[in-house]
Amino acid sequence: MSEAAVADRPQGDEPMSVDGMTEVKRDPQELALSLQRVERRFHQGEARLDVLRGVNLDLPRGQVQALVGPSGAGKSTLLQIAGLLEHPDSGDVILAGLSCAGLNDAARTRVRREKLGFVYQFHHLLPEFNALENVVLPQMLAGRSRQEASERAMDLLTSLGVGERATHRPARLSGGEQQRVAIARALANRPAVLLADEPTGNLDEETADGVFNMLIKTIRDEGSALLVATHNPDLARRTDGIARLHNGLIEWA
Ligand SMILES: Nc1ncnc2c1ncn2[C@@H]1O[C@H](COP(=O)(O)OP(=O)(O)OP(=O)(O)O)[C@@H](O)[C@H]1O
Ligand SMILES: [Mg+2]
Repeated sequence: MSEAAVADRPQGDEPMSVDGMTEVKRDPQELALSLQRVERRFHQGEARLDVLRGVNLDLPRGQVQALVGPSGAGKSTLLQIAGLLEHPDSGDVILAGLSCAGLNDAARTRVRREKLGFVYQFHHLLPEFNALENVVLPQMLAGRSRQEASERAMDLLTSLGVGERATHRPARLSGGEQQRVAIARALANRPAVLLADEPTGNLDEETADGVFNMLIKTIRDEGSALLVATHNPDLARRTDGIARLHNGLIEWA
């Protein structure tokens, strides 16, 4: 679908409140991510589990939103759908103005590569490459020269406070350092949206605090956008808005 066709789409009809700011309509071009009436259910034998029951969510560029809710509420499911790793049963995911509902698998893979970054609870860095190389590689796969990729990688690692660790392999980095490298890698190709599933869930409180602050700052500096699932209410409060999943729908806190 063309971007113009996306721009003509009707907007969700419910006004949305984020931190006291009520938004009625937004130019879709300003939105890094928009979920529109996303439904997802699972069947286990006779039982049917409605995990997402028509979720609407708008994430503007430059914003950080937290996704909270009890275990099993559907946070990871929502992030997988937003990240085009799973299909919703109905509804649409709009990434930087592009409607993804009608895309085939090849196009979804391309959009995922060009517009999305992911950070998980465990870093998944390549163990045989050092920190810098881990951030350089995805850029070279996207067609950037080694020199350009190295400069960008070094800038990101430095702004995340791990520039001096650039030549260390993951095994020689602390957990917090590993996560910062994973964040740099996820941002390397300038994604419109970063999706993070409990990115500090494996870190002690103080380290989690530092990594989360750097993550938020880097997202704002880069003009990207972040949707981050977390169980930590103190971290969630530092974001621009908290989306709480409850009974398959989002309540704004
Ligand atoms: N592929 C699947 N098949 C069947 N049920 C699934 C599948 N994926 C998720 N579920 C169920 O959907 C619900 C939501 O799971 P999800 O992992 O999204 O929750 P979550 O909010 O991320 O939880 P946590 O905080 O523990 O990570 C759970 O009840 C889970 O068992
Ligand atoms: Mg989860």
